[in-house]
Amino acid sequence: MAPYIGTATSRVDGAAKVTGAAKYAADYNVPGLAHGSVVCSTIAKGRITRIDTTAAMAVKGVLTVLTHDRRPPMADNDEAYKDDAAPSVGSPFRPLYDDRIMFDGQPIGLVVAETPEIARLAASLVRAEYHRELHVTDVYRERDRAVPPQPATNPFEAGFLAPKPRGTPDRALAAAAVRHEGEYHVPIEHHNPMELYASTVIVDGNGKLTVYDKTQGVQNVQKYLCGIFGLQPEDVRVLSPFMGGGFGSGLRPQFQVVLAVLAARALQRPVRVVLTRQQMYGLGYRPAMIQRIALGANTGGTLDAITHDAITVTSQYEDFHRQETGWSGLLYKCDNAKYEHRLARLDLATSADMRAPSATSAVYALESAMDELAVALELDPLELRLRCYSDRDQHGDLPYGSKALRECYRQGADAFGWDKRSPAPRSMRDGSELVGWGMATGIWEALQVPITVRIALTANGHAEVACATSDIGTGTYTIMAQVAADMLGLPLDSVSVKLGDSSLPQSPVEGGSWIAASVSNGIATTAAAVRDELLRLARLMPDSPLANAAPDEVALADGKLVSKREASRAVSIADAMRHGGVDRIEREKTTEPAHDATRANNTHAATFAEVKVDEQLGVIRVMRVVSAVAAGRILNTKTAGSQVLGSVVWGIGMALHEETLIDHRIGRIMNANIAEYHVPVNADVHDIKVILVDEPDDSNPLGVKGIGEIAMVGVAAAIANAVYHATGKRVRDLPITLDKLQR
Ligand code: MOS
Repeated sequence: MAPYIGTATSRVDGAAKVTGAAKYAADYNVPGLAHGSVVCSTIAKGRITRIDTTAAMAVKGVLTVLTHDRRPPMADNDEAYKDDAAPSVGSPFRPLYDDRIMFDGQPIGLVVAETPEIARLAASLVRAEYHRELHVTDVYRERDRAVPPQPATNPFEAGFLAPKPRGTPDRALAAAAVRHEGEYHVPIEHHNPMELYASTVIVDGNGKLTVYDKTQGVQNVQKYLCGIFGLQPEDVRVLSPFMGGGFGSGLRPQFQVVLAVLAARALQRPVRVVLTRQQMYGLGYRPAMIQRIALGANTGGTLDAITHDAITVTSQYEDFHRQETGWSGLLYKCDNAKYEHRLARLDLATSADMRAPSATSAVYALESAMDELAVALELDPLELRLRCYSDRDQHGDLPYGSKALRECYRQGADAFGWDKRSPAPRSMRDGSELVGWGMATGIWEALQVPITVRIALTANGHAEVACATSDIGTGTYTIMAQVAADMLGLPLDSVSVKLGDSSLPQSPVEGGSWIAASVSNGIATTAAAVRDELLRLARLMPDSPLANAAPDEVALADGKLVSKREASRAVSIADAMRHGGVDRIEREKTTEPAHDATRANNTHAATFAEVKVDEQLGVIRVMRVVSAVAAGRILNTKTAGSQVLGSVVWGIGMALHEETLIDHRIGRIMNANIAEYHVPVNADVHDIKVILVDEPDDSNPLGVKGIGEIAMVGVAAAIANAVYHATGKRVRDLPITLDKLQR
C-alpha cells in the first residue's frame, strides 16, 4: 500500500462534515436542555449600581437570571482563572464576578429559559444601571502613555519573546547611504470564525460535568473550569471534536463556558449558551499596531541597520503581547538592529492571538518598508530581498535546520512571471485599469510541543490513535490518520482517530502551527513502541523469521512486521498477537520537542500579488496571488494547500477590508457583525496559486514544521506593494480603502 504521508489525502472527516454528522458544541441535544442568553454591558467602564431582572423573570419559560449579585460561588483568586494561554501579567477576566465593567459588551447577566427564543427575549428585558467612569478606547490617544511590557513568565509566551538588540543601530542608521523610515498602521481586527462560541454543559447526579465546548484546547478548558469551580479533573470532561474555525480566538477559554457551567450547576439541568455574532466581538481580537520602522542600507542594497518600534493594544486588566517587533531583525542579514515595544492599555477586552500573531502585523510593516527601500535604491524589490538574504538566524547567529526561502522566491517569481514587471509605478495598464505587481516575504515559527499519543492496535489490523489535541479545521484528523497508517503499515481506513476530548492523552492547545509537527512525531514514537512489542512477540514464535531482528531492522507494512533487509522475513500482526496470546497492543508515549539549540527553525513564504485599480473609482481588485511556502515536509498537500489558500484570502481581507471600528465616545464596536465588518467574499478572490516548496529537514524525525499560519505573513504587504506599484500612492494604513487611495 502506498504511503500516505505527502499525498493529497482527502479529509477523513470530510463526509461527516458535509452530511452534518459532525457535531459542534451547540449541536448536542439532551433531554431537559435549557438555553442561556447573555446580557451585555452598554457602557465601557464603571460599575453596575443595580440590575433589574424582574421583567425578565416574569416571562413564562424563564428559569433563572444569573448576575454578579445572584450567582453560585466562583474562585476569588487570579490564579484560578489563568488558562494556559493567559498573559503572565495581569488578572484574567472573571465573567459575572462583580459589579465592575471593563469593556463595552462585557457579559453582566445570563438569562436561562426553556427555549433560546424565550431566553433572548427575556435578556432584552434586563435593565442595568451604572456608575460610569471615563473610558479610553482610542490607541492614538493612548500612544504616549503606552508602557513597555513586563517580562513574560508564562511558558506559552516564552517562545515569542522579543530578542536582544545587536550592534550599534543608531550609529549605523545615521551613517547609512540610503535610509527609509515610515510609520505603518494596522487596525484592530476580529477573528470571525464561522461557528459561534457555544457550550453545552451536562451535570450528572454527582455533580460531574460533561462540557461540549468550542475551544482549541480541551484540557486547557478542563483545567480552567477546575480552577474556577474547585473541581477535580475527573469531575470535568471537556469535548470539542470539531471546531468551525478558531484562528486563535479559541486558545483561551471564552466566557460562555463559565456562564453555561454556572447555570447548569445552579439549575442542576443541562444548559447551552451560544453567543450571538455581535457578542463574539466582546472576545479577543488582533491588537491594533502602530509601528515605526527605519531601514538603513548601503548603495549595494544590503542592510546596515533596522529599528522597529511598535505600540500594540491590550486591556486594562491583562498585558497581552507577543514578539511584536523581533521579526524585523530575524529575517534579513543586518548587523545592527533594535526593537522597542510598548502596550497601550485600553478599556476593551484583552487582545488575543490571531493567525500568526505579531508576525502578520509586524511583517506587513517590515515588508512595506523593504518595498519603499527598494524604490529608494532603484532596485527590484525581489532583488533587494536576495541581496539581504540570510542563511543564518540573525538573532542567535545560528544555522537553520532548513531554509528554502530562496526557492520560494525563485519558484514564486517564475510562476508569477515577475521578470516581466516594469519597474516604474503606474507603468502597467489593462484598459482603463492600472496594474500593479508587488511581493513580500513571510516568516513564522516552526515549533514543537510535548504531546502524548496512545495507540491501540488490535489483531484484526485496526488501530485507534488518541490524543487530546483539537482539530480546529486544519486537517489534524487526517494527518494523524495518514501518519499512523504509514507507521503501522495499515490502510488509511483501518485507522480511527480520537481527539478533542480532555480524557485522552495530554496535548497543549492547537495553535502556533505546532500541532502537526508535535502530533505526527508523537504518533511515530508511539507506533515504534507498538512495533517493538509486536517484534518481541514475533521473536518468541517457534522458528521465527525475525528471531534475530533488532527493532530498527523491522518495519510495519501491509499488516506485517517485515525485515528491512530481507522482505521475505515477515510475521503478520495477527500471527504475532495470536502466538503471544494477546488480541490488542496498547502503548501511550510522550514525545518531547527535539530541541537542538545549535540550529534555528522557521518557516518561510514568498507572496506575489497582482492588483488592478480603477483610477476613477479607486476600486482595488486582487487578480492573482502566487504563494510559495517552505514549511518542511508537507504531510498532506491537499489540506496544507487549503491552509495556504485560506491564508491568502485572509491576507486580502487584511490588506483591503478588515477593520474593527469603535465609536470612541461610547467605547463601543460599531461594526460588530459580518455585514459591516468586511471580509473578502467570492467576488474579491480571484486566482490563487499555491506552491509547496520542497524543504527537507531533520530537526524532528519526520521533518515537519507546520503550515497553518506562515502563508498569511506577508500577504497584506505584497498587496499594499502592488497597490503602490499600480498607483504610485503609498498607503501605510490598513485596510487600503478607496478613500485613502483618493486622499
Ligand atoms: Mo493560532 S493564532 O496560535 O490559533
